[in-house]
Amino acid sequence: MKRQLFRFRAVIMLVVLFLLPSLSMAQNSDTSRTLFSQDLARLRAQEVVPMVDKVKVEGPIRRSQRLHATELSIKDAKTTYFLLDSPIIKAQEDHYAPVRFNHGQHAASSGDCSVCHHLRPVDNSSYSNHPETVRCSACHQQSFHPDYPERLGLKAAYHQNCIPCHKKQNAGPLTCRGCHLNNVPEHKQLVKLPEKPDPLQVTAECLRCHEDDANDLLHTAHWRWRGASLYTQDQSRQVDHGKGTTALNND
Ligand code: HEC
Ligand code: HEC
Ligand code: HEC
Ligand code: HEC
Ligand code: HEC
Repeated sequence: MKRQLFRFRAVIMLVVLFLLPSLSMAQNSDTSRTLFSQDLARLRAQEVVPMVDKVKVEGPIRRSQRLHATELSIKDAKTTYFLLDSPIIKAQEDHYAPVRFNHGQHAASSGDCSVCHHLRPVDNSSYSNHPETVRCSACHQQSFHPDYPERLGLKAAYHQNCIPCHKKQNAGPLTCRGCHLNNVPEHKQLVKLPEKPDPLQVTAECLRCHEDDANDLLHTAHWRWRGASLYTQDQSRQVDHGKGTTALNND
């Protein structure tokens, strides 16, 4: 698993090396969604809602039936895409980049808002555009909150909601990496290069911080072109010519 991860990272490194000029773009852009929704989601992630004191006591079946009766539907799930990156969690730990959460797809495929929005505030005051579906962070905030000992902290509330459902439905990510990307710092500031760098200077600059990644790369088939090629039709024989053996490496 770890090995695969390194390989994956190494391949990314290789790709990015050849796309240096677009490095910062590659990190910020998201081909499947517009920058607009990405920016909006980022802003949305920073909001902190006031803590809900009183929660309406209601069993899950009763709640599910009542929500169906109110005709709460996918149309009410207006924000279709969230970045989950709560300042409440960040104050404690910040190991990863924001978690992408496709709300629209989840709301549509579950067909029942109450599987996630499992409780609501007693009153109808405006914690949200809809009191039935206030944000998780309106009730789940820091862990071991002295005033609300029965409530999980926000991180645990997410983990214990998201992961068991993926397990049960045998769909959606279960591994840490499936939801969490590395917190990658802005490379525009990190990378220091002369005006018109030659390729060797670029490689050397990356190696300043990425020596381990480079060493991992040197052991992959992508670098060595060596070993069995099991998944390529008619090419399953051992390949012994490559940078690891007979070919010269010009970079
Ligand atoms: C199904 C998705 C999912 C999976 C799988 C998952 N997490 Fe998370 N995790 C989340 C969400 C959502 C948050 C809350 C993000 C936020 O609001 O900052 C979170 C928050 C965290 C945080 C605190 C935020 C941070 O950036 O440091 C840590 C640490 C963390 N997860 C570790 C793990 C580890 C370790 C694993 C694997 C054992 C894992 N997670 C698996 C969804 C997931
Ligand atoms: C798979 C879990 C899941 C399902 C199913 C789901 N939601 Fe959500 N919803 C979330 C999460 C997570 C958030 C973001 C919570 C946060 O920021 O703390 C959210 C946020 C919302 C918000 C925004 C609240 C605000 O104040 O901004 C609304 C409205 C909402 N959901 C409505 C719905 C409706 C309506 C349905 C059913 C048609 C639904 N959701 C189904 C997980 C879900
Ligand atoms: C109106 C307040 C409120 C909101 C909003 C809320 N929760 Fe909870 N949650 C609670 C309380 C209180 C508990 C403690 C156990 C209980 O009473 O069910 C809890 C418990 C949990 C648990 C533990 C298992 C369980 O069901 O008891 C999980 C997981 C959880 N919440 C996830 C979420 C997620 C994810 C969201 C957002 C989609 C959310 N909660 C929104 C109040 C809330
Ligand atoms: C009610 C069950 C359920 C819950 C709760 C749930 N998921 Fe999922 N999730 C799914 C299913 C089913 C899929 C597969 C959807 C597909 O492939 O079309 C999925 C897919 C995903 C994917 C991969 C597809 C994509 O959108 O990129 C991510 C990431 C994800 N879920 C994150 C989360 C996070 C984060 C949470 C908690 C805030 C969560 N899920 C809660 C059922 C759930
Ligand atoms: C001053 C230090 C520094 C320099 C110079 C630097 N990086 Fe990074 N880079 C980091 C750190 C820190 C991370 C985040 C931790 C990690 O992923 O190892 C990172 C992450 C990355 C990632 C994401 C890896 C992942 O796991 O998602 C890529 C790709 C990357 N760097 C490429 C490059 C390239 C290409 C260069 C040279 C043009 C370069 N970096 C130069 C410090 C640096």
